[in-house]
Amino acid sequence: MRKQPERVVSGEELRAVLKVSRTAVWKQINQLRISGYIIESLPAQGYRLIAVPDDKLVPTEISTGLTFKRIGTNIICYQEVDSTNVNAFQLAENGEKEGTVIVADSQRRGKGRLGRDWESPAGVNIYCSIILRPDIFPLNAFQLTFLSAVAVARTIENISVLKTVIKWPNDILINGRKVAGLLNEMSAETEKVNFLILGIGVNLNMRNEQFPDTLRHPSSSLFIESGLVYARNVFLRRLLAELDELYDDYLSNGYQNIRNEWQARCNLIGRKIKVDCNGIILIGDVIGTDDFGALLLKVDDGSSTRILAGDVSLI
Ligand code: BTN
Repeated sequence: MRKQPERVVSGEELRAVLKVSRTAVWKQINQLRISGYIIESLPAQGYRLIAVPDDKLVPTEISTGLTFKRIGTNIICYQEVDSTNVNAFQLAENGEKEGTVIVADSQRRGKGRLGRDWESPAGVNIYCSIILRPDIFPLNAFQLTFLSAVAVARTIENISVLKTVIKWPNDILINGRKVAGLLNEMSAETEKVNFLILGIGVNLNMRNEQFPDTLRHPSSSLFIESGLVYARNVFLRRLLAELDELYDDYLSNGYQNIRNEWQARCNLIGRKIKVDCNGIILIGDVIGTDDFGALLLKVDDGSSTRILAGDVSLI
C-alpha cells in the first residue's frame, strides 16, 4: 500500500471539480474502495484518501501523470478474461476507439503465437491488448509488430538495468531467455486494415515454478533475471507512453525510425540460424529483413529465401 497525504476533500469540492452529482461522487468513492483504495468518510467534512493499492491494475494508477495522444486515452482493466486479445477484438468490432487498452490481471486462455498457449497467472505479469486503426495496407501490419517490440524493449531497459534483445519476429529476450511475446491480430479487407490488436505479454514478476515444464522456449521473467520485483502499474505506464510516442512518430514520419531501432536491437542480423517452418528446417545466414518484415536468409546451398513465419534458433 502506498500512503497518501492526509488531506480531507469535501463531497462538494469533488462534485464541483468533477462536474457530476453528489450521488455520482459517492458511487465513484465506493468503486474505488472496491478496487482496493482505502478512503475514510468524515461526517460533515468529506473524504480522506488513506492509501492506494500498489500493484492492483487500475486505470487511474496506470495513467497517473501522463497525457496520451492516442494509445492509453481509454484503459479498461479486468480481473480475469479468457484472452485480452479476444476482448479487444470484440470491442473493436463493436466500434471501440483507437488507442483503447485492455488489461487483465490474469488470463484463462492466454494466446501465444502459432496456436500456442501463453501462461497467464494472476498478480505477477502484464497482459494487455491495444486497439489501433491505422490507415495502412494489410501487408504493412508487421510494422506495428516491430513497433510494439521496440516499445517493450525500451520499457524494460527504462525501468530496470537489464539489457534486452529482439528475436525475430517478436520475442524479447534477456540473457538469451524469452521474457515477453507479442501476438498482433487484425481485421482487414484486401487493401485496407479495419483494425489491429497489439497483444503484449511480459513476464514481470513470475517465479521459476510458475512456468510449465513443457515450454518450448527457455523462458524467464524480469524478476528471475534481476532478483527484483517490479510494480505492474509503473511498467504499464511506461509501456503505454513508449507505444504512444512510437505510434505518433509512425503516423507522422512512417516506418523508417522504427525499422532502424528494431534492426539495431535485433540479434539475428549477420548470424547463422536454424528455422523451423512448420516442420521444414532451413539453415543459413541472416542477411536482414525486407520491406514486409520477412527474414532474408542466405541458405547454405548458396540460394536466398524469405521467411515469413517460423521458429528461429541461433546455431
Ligand atoms: C508469443 O507466443 O510469443 C506471443 C504471446 C502473446 C501473449 C499476449 S498476453 C496479452 C495478449 N492476450 C493474449 O491472449 N495473448 C497476448
